[in-house]
Amino acid sequence: MANRRSFLKKSLLLSFTAILPFKFIRAATREISDSNFLSPASGPMVISTWSHGLAANEAAAAVLAENGKALDAVEKGVMVPEADPNVTSVGLGGLPDADGNVTLDACIMAPNGKAGSVTYLQHILHPISVARMVMEKTPHVILSGEGALKFALDNGFEKTSLLTENAKAQWEKWKASGARYAPQANWENHDTIGLIAIDNVGDIAGACTTSGMAFKHPGRVGDSPIIGAGLFVDNKVGAATATGEGEVVLRTLGSFLIVELMRNGMSPQLACEKAITRLAESVHVHKNMQVGYIAINKAGEIGAFALRSGFQYALYQNGENQLLNAGFLLPWE
Ligand code: GLY
Repeated sequence: MANRRSFLKKSLLLSFTAILPFKFIRAATREISDSNFLSPASGPMVISTWSHGLAANEAAAAVLAENGKALDAVEKGVMVPEADPNVTSVGLGGLPDADGNVTLDACIMAPNGKAGSVTYLQHILHPISVARMVMEKTPHVILSGEGALKFALDNGFEKTSLLTENAKAQWEKWKASGARYAPQANWENHDTIGLIAIDNVGDIAGACTTSGMAFKHPGRVGDSPIIGAGLFVDNKVGAATATGEGEVVLRTLGSFLIVELMRNGMSPQLACEKAITRLAESVHVHKNMQVGYIAINKAGEIGAFALRSGFQYALYQNGENQLLNAGFLLPWE
């Protein structure tokens, strides 16, 4: 089986390099994603980014096991890393901006096509729940900064401190080192959590939440709360979500692109690969850049692919929760 997988990986590597533009053929050491070898699932399933997705998937799967809705599952799922002080890229314990403030971005999309989002939100433990409330209680899609905080407080959310001792110490170390901001995705090998779920009736929802780039410029908003960039769901087709350097995801609207490619018949895996290839062709790829996508279609097929190695995703299906390696386009320089 391992030999067959290795043979298939080599065959797929060759077929992929055949469709790459010349400038990438020499550089590509493309590795095939584990998802190339998975069968479509029947029944509820959950897919999410990075190893912190494992615990999130468990919480989401528990909702689905009670015949719960995909929308409730994705919210409950991402609330786990939001509340985990050891996850330094999401919610409580997230690394702060250059001024030492933890600022959060989150969005959620429902099977009915509705969406809610908060950007640059401070002092609230669960930005995903505020995003859901924006979707359900307002005629708007995005609330930002002070306005988002006011909306949260007016609706019963409590103000809390999100800066942990660990995050503060890392920020002080960064300041002492000369305080030069440089985009750094893959911080400690993890980043945004994007999570997609399919429930028992086949409905799809998604959620995406992050504290954004470590030590970012105050005011910076990334891709995660922007519908079509960090997350996109079309219940007739499938869903996709992103992790990594938000600026280039914003410039290429990768999650929307992946869903559109799936709408036109492409598999989730090929659609993720196409979105990464498109990104690499259309932006300057600097040496620290990482972007990863995961996707799922209505049939329960999944995809995952990243610009560089190291991107992992968590997949819950048929009662099993596992951490898998995504394929990638380019080696780290
Ligand atoms: N993808 C997370 C961010 O760039 O903020």
